[in-house]
Amino acid sequence: MQKTRNARPRPVTLALLCGLLIAAAPVWSSTAPDVETACLDCHRPQQDRGAVPVIEGQHADYLRAQLQRFQQRHREGFPMNALSAGLEAASLSAMADALAARPWRAASSAPQPRADIGREQLDAFDCASCHGSDFRGGGSIPRIAGQQAAYLQRQIAAFGESERHHPPVGGGARMYGITPDAAEAIAAALAELD
Ligand code: HEC
Ligand code: HEC
Repeated sequence: MQKTRNARPRPVTLALLCGLLIAAAPVWSSTAPDVETACLDCHRPQQDRGAVPVIEGQHADYLRAQLQRFQQRHREGFPMNALSAGLEAASLSAMADALAARPWRAASSAPQPRADIGREQLDAFDCASCHGSDFRGGGSIPRIAGQQAAYLQRQIAAFGESERHHPPVGGGARMYGITPDAAEAIAAALAELD
């Protein structure tokens, strides 16, 4: 986990982003961009580009809501604020549907260190009560099983620091009650699920 902790997009990602912004901006204003070229070069788990989430096979309502939040800057997440800025509502919605229709690609099914501790934490906070016993979510609740560990860890920290909204958990406890150590273990437990 040390390797990917606090992972930031690497220079190659930044270069790609600049290229995409220049190349794609005029096209995005009229038609829905092709997710294969506009999004998935970054978002495929095999690309190993740091803390980039799996979005193929994620639920459409959840994807739509997040893209709208990035666009309206209710959620900060580099580089998605800039990437979503020029999207029309219809394009944004069409992309969410196109991505949701694709099969989920688990980031990793390899055993993760400290996953056993993470599973205890998931039980203690009753995370399954919303995300489902298989943690695959549904509707506006995201699938978190098989998500990228470094990404999950960063989001749980962001919830903890109140940078991103998350509903209360575990009998009203806030996500900021979760220590960085526990967040790392929870992320590991979730990442190794299918
Ligand atoms: C240059 C790399 C890059 C490109 C290209 C890119 N993304 Fe992202 N995306 C990211 C990163 C990094 C994050 C995580 C941001 C954070 O930490 O909150 C992200 C987050 C997201 C999320 C939030 C997922 C979740 O589980 O909450 C969605 C949805 C998303 N991107 C959709 C898209 C779509 C649609 C496209 C194509 C139009 C796209 N992205 C193109 C890097 C990229
Ligand atoms: C009361 C219902 C509820 C409970 C309990 C709950 N969640 Fe969530 N979770 C949500 C909702 C709703 C969202 C989407 C928030 C948003 O719209 O940005 C979410 C989002 C997330 C995300 C972001 C996923 C992504 O792709 O960015 C993570 C990670 C997460 N939850 C982990 C947890 C963990 C770990 C627990 C237990 C400690 C937990 N959740 C318990 C409802 C819940």
